[in-house]
Amino acid sequence: MRILAVSGSTRAGSFNTSLLRAAADAAPEGVEVRLWEGIGDLPIYDQDLDAAGPPESVRRLREDWGAADAILFATPEYNGSVPGGLKNAVDWASRPQLEAPLTNKTVAVIGASPGQFGAMWAQADLRKILGIAGARVVGDELPVTRAHEKLDAEGRLLDAELHERLRLTLETLAAESIPVQVAV
Ligand SMILES: Cc1cc2nc3c(=O)[nH]c(=O)nc-3n(C[C@H](O)[C@H](O)[C@H](O)COP(=O)(O)O)c2cc1C
Repeated sequence: MRILAVSGSTRAGSFNTSLLRAAADAAPEGVEVRLWEGIGDLPIYDQDLDAAGPPESVRRLREDWGAADAILFATPEYNGSVPGGLKNAVDWASRPQLEAPLTNKTVAVIGASPGQFGAMWAQADLRKILGIAGARVVGDELPVTRAHEKLDAEGRLLDAELHERLRLTLETLAAESIPVQVAV
């Protein structure tokens, strides 16, 4: 079971990226979690560019997201919603319409912020956006509040309860996912 972990932040010290690394450490047996870093390489979605033949960064996104058995997103909250770069990646992954990487893809959403709401509006919006893009959104939101108290400066998780919740999120994703058949 290959779960791709996609952070909505490209920041070096990102709490959301650290959260995904912590999720990889909490993965149940048989579940491999791989961090996908490519959001910052994508051009702004453009239908003309897509029709003309998208660049390598988009091809890689579509191939990697399409090949994953499931995707775990961790989103920051920017001005009450999903960061533009993450929305842009979802837009690219929602096309081509009948064979988009997100079509029927099992996905879950978590999110962290240093504040007291844990990116909960961004998580709600991302769940909506992913659903409209054709993905199967499973599990509950996981708002990680006061993230600076739960992850140390090196991004290590300091909170045992959160470790357990990450493990449960991955268990749900793995149980609900429809494994991608790889041609041999
Ligand atoms: C442009 C911008 C807008 C932000 N808006 C919000 C917000 O609406 N709600 C919130 O809780 N935090 C907000 N923040 C603070 C982020 O939660 C904080 O920077 C967080 O660490 C970003 O996630 P990351 O650590 O994964 O990069 C905002 C930060 C930026 C840069």
